[in-house]
Amino acid sequence: MKEIIASIIKLTQSDEAFFWLTDANHQNSHLASSTNNTHLETILKKEWHTIRLKKELFVDRFNEVWYGMKVIKTPTTIGVIGVRISSSTEAQEAFLLNRPFAFLVQLIEIMLERIQMDSMKEQMIVLEEQNRIADEIHDSVSQRLFGIVYSLHSLQSKSKDMTTAELNDEHQFLSQSANTTLKELRSAIYNLSSTKNGEKPFLVRLKNYLDDYARLSDIRIDYQLTGDEALLSSELKQALYRIVCEACGNAVRHGRCTTIELRLSLLDERTLLDIHDNGIGFNPQLSDDLQEKGIGLFNMKRLVSTFAGSFSIDGFHGLGTEIQIEIPTTKILEKVQVIG
Ligand SMILES: Nc1ncnc2c1ncn2[C@@H]1O[C@H](COP(=O)(O)OP(=O)(O)OP(=O)(O)O)[C@@H](O)[C@H]1O
Ligand SMILES: [Mg+2]
Repeated sequence: MKEIIASIIKLTQSDEAFFWLTDANHQNSHLASSTNNTHLETILKKEWHTIRLKKELFVDRFNEVWYGMKVIKTPTTIGVIGVRISSSTEAQEAFLLNRPFAFLVQLIEIMLERIQMDSMKEQMIVLEEQNRIADEIHDSVSQRLFGIVYSLHSLQSKSKDMTTAELNDEHQFLSQSANTTLKELRSAIYNLSSTKNGEKPFLVRLKNYLDDYARLSDIRIDYQLTGDEALLSSELKQALYRIVCEACGNAVRHGRCTTIELRLSLLDERTLLDIHDNGIGFNPQLSDDLQEKGIGLFNMKRLVSTFAGSFSIDGFHGLGTEIQIEIPTTKILEKVQVIG
């Protein structure tokens, strides 16, 4: 603001200038002035109902001082820019025809708009990042945590019948699972991809997850993971990982299943994912069946649609639930061919 005042004084060769910015209710108003004219802001607020209607340059007297002014407007801010002028009629008339001042005000308006747009963009980026972290934590980290809690709970009742070696083994497995969850949490927060993070390949990570989750939840997971993961972008791998975690979480938590059958086929032109549980099932068309109305299914559908894929979920009471996903991989193939 100080720089703006200095430029106005320099360009208009006036000895005093001010720049007042406010919002509609003057709750956030700020005056920058080359003098310590503390009354100016109070007068501007008081006179605002008439000032705000001025479209062109105008002249007015506040506290015995004449000012030449122009209202500035951007989508979020309004205000006035003014310079002190002489009280003579010629000086006032000359001001009203002052093209450089009017041009300067226009430039300041553009500059303010630009600053506001940049700050909005920054806020959007922060918001998107917050959503991404929340979604990743929901889909992967919280499912694993749920598994750990479940496992600890069942350990309580079966520990009496376990040998020390078995207890040690279980203890080690749970610590490892907690550590992996911590790593996943860090990856979600810092947006680390598996390669950047020096982690294992995607299919190995997925296999480990399924083995761990089956053990934690005390169920069987039969899986078939086929194809070449080099066909997939890191974003698609992350999306598939999250979908698998959430689907398995739902199958255990809501379906109370004892078995999950999972098939992931990475074909040249498409990726197919089929997850079938033998739980209580539900009818996705009936809102009563969507008991908690969470964000898991919504996230899955949204992730699949980001990759122009198709998503279907079929649940039948007593017959389990099946999720089928198909995602085209042609675009990634094209990319690989171009690079190759
Ligand atoms: N495999 C399944 N077996 C039985 N019911 C299911 C299954 N998957 C989803 N549901 C039903 O669909 C509802 C919505 O699932 P969704 O994953 O969207 O939310 P949630 O799991 O309740 O909450 P969140 O995922 O946000 O923790 C569930 O509350 C449940 O009633
Ligand atoms: Mg869920």
